[in-house]
Amino acid sequence: MIPYGKHYIDQEDINAVIKVLKSDNLTQGTLIAVFEKEISKYVGAKYSVVVTSCTAGLHMASIVAKMHKGKVLLTSPITFVATANSSLFCGAETIFADIDSSTINISTDSIKKVILKNKIHAIAPVHFGGLPCDVKKIKEIADKVGAIIYEDAAHAFGASFPDGSKVGSCKYSDMTVFSFHPVKSITTGEGGAITTNDKKIYEQLMRLRNHGLEKNQENFQLKNNSFTNDLNSPWYYEMQELGYNYRITDIQCALGLSQLKKIDKFIKRRRELAKKYDLAFENLKNCEPIQKNMRNFSSNHLYVLKINFKKLGKTKERLMEEFKSAEIITQVHYIPVISHPYFQIKNYKNSNFPNSYNYYNSALSIPLFYALTDKQQSYVIDQVKKLIG
Ligand SMILES: Cc1ncc(COP(=O)(O)O)c(C=O)c1O
Repeated sequence: MIPYGKHYIDQEDINAVIKVLKSDNLTQGTLIAVFEKEISKYVGAKYSVVVTSCTAGLHMASIVAKMHKGKVLLTSPITFVATANSSLFCGAETIFADIDSSTINISTDSIKKVILKNKIHAIAPVHFGGLPCDVKKIKEIADKVGAIIYEDAAHAFGASFPDGSKVGSCKYSDMTVFSFHPVKSITTGEGGAITTNDKKIYEQLMRLRNHGLEKNQENFQLKNNSFTNDLNSPWYYEMQELGYNYRITDIQCALGLSQLKKIDKFIKRRRELAKKYDLAFENLKNCEPIQKNMRNFSSNHLYVLKINFKKLGKTKERLMEEFKSAEIITQVHYIPVISHPYFQIKNYKNSNFPNSYNYYNSALSIPLFYALTDKQQSYVIDQVKKLIG
């Protein structure tokens, strides 16, 4: 079977993990800070905080954005549920703006329309499939209403904006959150990271990751409790806010560091594969790829075909079965978040999100990952031509 996405692990990765397993620290050793430093350096942000998942990172970003009851997050319906849930974890609300049909990212025109009718406190642009949103334009809109921006870059580690800055540099946002789940650009098993250029945000994220505990003496609120007769109390720490255990392990960070060394070749190969698909599918009657000719800035996390099922004369279910019989796994990214029963209590009207539903009805992701061989890709291309045409 050829999966739609997959990790790539080499001997160097395995050795790095074994080294930690044989050491004194499985968690909270030195590698967490080293991984954070390397991530910051790679994306060009001042700070990064690594955590157990992107979902944990989005939750923390939402707390930093002061999302609570009465506050509203705006995001895209075409995302994984975790983006929309981030503000719900904090008791706030999430509302949605339609996507742009060519990028599948949140549309800035829709954002403007939603903002006219609703007070928005935070915006979470999702770099769908690894293609960066126009965060510069989103920031111009957000600044007018004082909204915080946290980018959901789960798909976009290794992607760049057209001005050359990397996704994660937070040039136009307050925070960026990445996922290191196995199908993503690099993996730590489960894992994620938040980047920021703001020291106060960084310090709060460090506390939130670890039960809300502050260990830096300079930041103690009850300074007199931290020493006796000029001697510091070495055990002393303060819980200053409600935090979580979102700590990632040294084992995972060893894997992440080893994976990070390969990021350039990972991204290069994904781009190569996406462009080869684009070329092969240029003149098909019943389908066309999304984000075509937008491969150079993207991390190319997904390769999605928009299929005219009516013209094709078969359903998505039938087509997925046919691919499966040909040993190819396809997937749908994503069911619009507002279609889930949990969100339907809000009575969202599908007709308010025409681009999202047009996209969803036609979308099918085919295999794209670093380790996909030329031979496998040629086989997938042949099967797409045969089954969709
Ligand atoms: C757009 C998006 N946001 C958030 C997440 C959550 O990431 P994680 O699994 O690391 O929590 C995912 C996971 O696939 C995702 O695709």
